[in-house]
Amino acid sequence: MGIVIYHYPVPAASSVKIMIEASAPAKIILFGEHAVVYGQPAIAVPVSSLRATANVAANNPSGQGLRIAAADLNEVLPISIESEIVDHSLAATARLVLKTLKATTPDVTITLHSAIPMASGLGSGAAVSAALGRALSAAVHQTIENETLNALVYEMEKTYHGTPSGIDNTVIVYEQPVYFVRGAPIEKMPIGAAFTLLIGDTGQGALTKIAVGDVRKLFEADPERIQPILDEIGALVKRAKIAIESGEISELGPLMLKNHALLQQLTVSSHELDQLVEAAVNAGAAGAKLSGGGRGGNMIALVTPESSENVRQALLNAGAVRVFETTVTP
Ligand code: MEV
Repeated sequence: MGIVIYHYPVPAASSVKIMIEASAPAKIILFGEHAVVYGQPAIAVPVSSLRATANVAANNPSGQGLRIAAADLNEVLPISIESEIVDHSLAATARLVLKTLKATTPDVTITLHSAIPMASGLGSGAAVSAALGRALSAAVHQTIENETLNALVYEMEKTYHGTPSGIDNTVIVYEQPVYFVRGAPIEKMPIGAAFTLLIGDTGQGALTKIAVGDVRKLFEADPERIQPILDEIGALVKRAKIAIESGEISELGPLMLKNHALLQQLTVSSHELDQLVEAAVNAGAAGAKLSGGGRGGNMIALVTPESSENVRQALLNAGAVRVFETTVTP
């Protein structure tokens, strides 16, 4: 049987008992986005309070197949996919999971919810794929190892991003701070002391794929000018790693501002992101920068309990549509 994806709410069967819930968090890149695509290190942390969840209900008549109901995800469906020609990323994820686990299609409905804003640099696509992968594995009575899930979500990321470094799926699947170098073994990062960030959303959706593609064009047109910028980002990421691990949080603010300036040179900031960064710093944040693909999406600001409320207000006054707080803890 094929896979059917429904626009939410699910027709008729929505009162069924939920049997399994799986989830995955959002992420933010603290340092090193874009340069990480070129082999430089980057640091990312999960945002566990913002999640994508997948609930499994075994409500379908035997042989009816898998249904995916995508709440909050703006799906334009139903789509029924009987062939290998896959035109929907959720169906493609489900197929890949079942193929990887060598499982037959279960007769269940999986309902997806995501509290993670889409196309905003917070990893919503990877989190939804990871939650779906976990739920579907449970539905076929198998445990999917993080390593397998990570490889699978990376495959899906390629369809969203083209040439992803792999940092987003890694931090989301392992739900741990990571120091990431493309192609190197995963390095989980100890956190020396807790620090708090505000995440300010410009409200402007931006496709990472386009920003990454534009940086590629810039690089190919003038590698002599761009390579030193990437190297400089790599060097500051290494300094940030030492500061984070040793709990020297006061070092991070200036490094964030430097990283933002270098991202501006890579043309991935925007007027709105620059405004939010400036507003945060003027309101007392120790540092701020765009986070993720840029050109819109989110920025982050380093705050203390004393500065947090002031900075939050300043971000809202400067046009942020949402402000989330997250604390990175040891
Ligand atoms: C996106 O969250 C991070 C980028 O560096 C792209 C990637 O690493 O795949 C912009």
